[in-house]
Amino acid sequence: MPGLSRRELLLGSAGTVAAFAAGGIAASTAQAAEHALALSYLDHGILPEAPTKGMMSFVPDGPPPVLRLRQGRKTAIEVKNALDEVTSVHWHGLRLANRMDGVPYLTQYPIEAGQSFRYEFTPPDAGTFWYHPHCNTLEQIARGLTGVLVVEEEEDPGFDRDLPLNIRDFRLGGDGQFIDFYKARNAARGGTLGTVSTVNWQTGPVYDLDAGSLVRLRLAVTDLTRVGTYAISGAQARVIALDSNPLPKPLPANALTLAPGQRADIALRVPDSEDEVATLLLQKPSGDKVLARFRAKGASAERDLRELRPLPQNPVPVPDLGNAEVLDFVFGWSPEGDAPQQSLCGSLGYTFWSINRIAWPGDRPGPFDPLATMKLGKSYILRLRNETPNAHPIHLHGLSFQLLRSNKRKLPPLVTDTALLLEEETMDVALVADNPGDWAFHCHVIEHQKTGLAGFLRVE
Ligand code: C2O
Ligand code: CU
Ligand code: CU
Repeated sequence: MPGLSRRELLLGSAGTVAAFAAGGIAASTAQAAEHALALSYLDHGILPEAPTKGMMSFVPDGPPPVLRLRQGRKTAIEVKNALDEVTSVHWHGLRLANRMDGVPYLTQYPIEAGQSFRYEFTPPDAGTFWYHPHCNTLEQIARGLTGVLVVEEEEDPGFDRDLPLNIRDFRLGGDGQFIDFYKARNAARGGTLGTVSTVNWQTGPVYDLDAGSLVRLRLAVTDLTRVGTYAISGAQARVIALDSNPLPKPLPANALTLAPGQRADIALRVPDSEDEVATLLLQKPSGDKVLARFRAKGASAERDLRELRPLPQNPVPVPDLGNAEVLDFVFGWSPEGDAPQQSLCGSLGYTFWSINRIAWPGDRPGPFDPLATMKLGKSYILRLRNETPNAHPIHLHGLSFQLLRSNKRKLPPLVTDTALLLEEETMDVALVADNPGDWAFHCHVIEHQKTGLAGFLRVE
């Protein structure tokens, strides 16, 4: 198994502090902030008709909790698997030691039913992130296993309130019960959409907020499939960060495209008069859909968006473009005649997609090879070429990258972990390979990921 010795695995499962220190990021002497999750089954009411049976959450009795961590503060998350199948948990967007990245067979063995795994890391970046399993990913996410993870800045930027919004669909029938999680014919195209839109596991929740106050909305699109366009209506609002990284200049909070895995931090100024309502909209050609309502309560606090302090930049290393090596990646169909790959962590039984003509077998004991190997500390340009007529949110674990250019549109100089590659688009992104290990690299439309559009990059 690349980069992972038997001994390291044993240390990893014992979850000792020594193992963490060996992981490459300096262990701080301060005590870790402790969190605990228990992956569990539950019945929970999404639709009024009846509780949805067979949902999965990270706690036994409700929606996945928001995990609140502190930038630069050591954190330990004890994950208990109370499901009757294997799993693992991945911390999407966090730059952490490879052994804590939660990818089965690449960075750890799956967590067996009834077993626990202790994840320990120190988040270097602040912002909005999320967490989800990386094992039997389609079904476990479809049943509910997506949660928002917040890493707070050391210094408060001046909001009155912080409101994470976990945005996703479920595939439910009219009786409130799960229907088939996907259809193979969709997996070979744009993916299978859910039937019920939710925010924090509720359909159209109403949040009562202090009138005239400043609220930090943290949108996390944790859906399996939907590339959506979002807007705030009925209030002043600005996008201040995307995918956990602050924007040099805030953007208007409308026509904001977010793909699976992407996040947006929005500064919302709550309306002034009692019971006045602002909304979060999903914009569709067929008409806008209200996902959530923000209702003003009490006398106006009369705050002003200009009172907010700019968010500090995250310490992501800046690539040396003059000396960067170019690595090519082609996202395409799977080579003809490829047999469906077997997988211990939930194969869909189909192969439709590939990266560089390879449909990654994934999720099973090796051997398998990295798509590319990067030298520790060196700068690279990844040339991402989409030769398909579908959009693919391309996600890289463990390293953040900067958007450089596209053959189709002008790109803002964003730093991100998940870039939406439009149909037939070629995009250059750049990074410094500063984090050693094997890093998963895949489309975040989970049906694409699980039918070939996945692989990994090695940094050594
Ligand atoms: Cu959000 Cu490999 O995943
Ligand atoms: Cu990730
Ligand atoms: Cu895709």
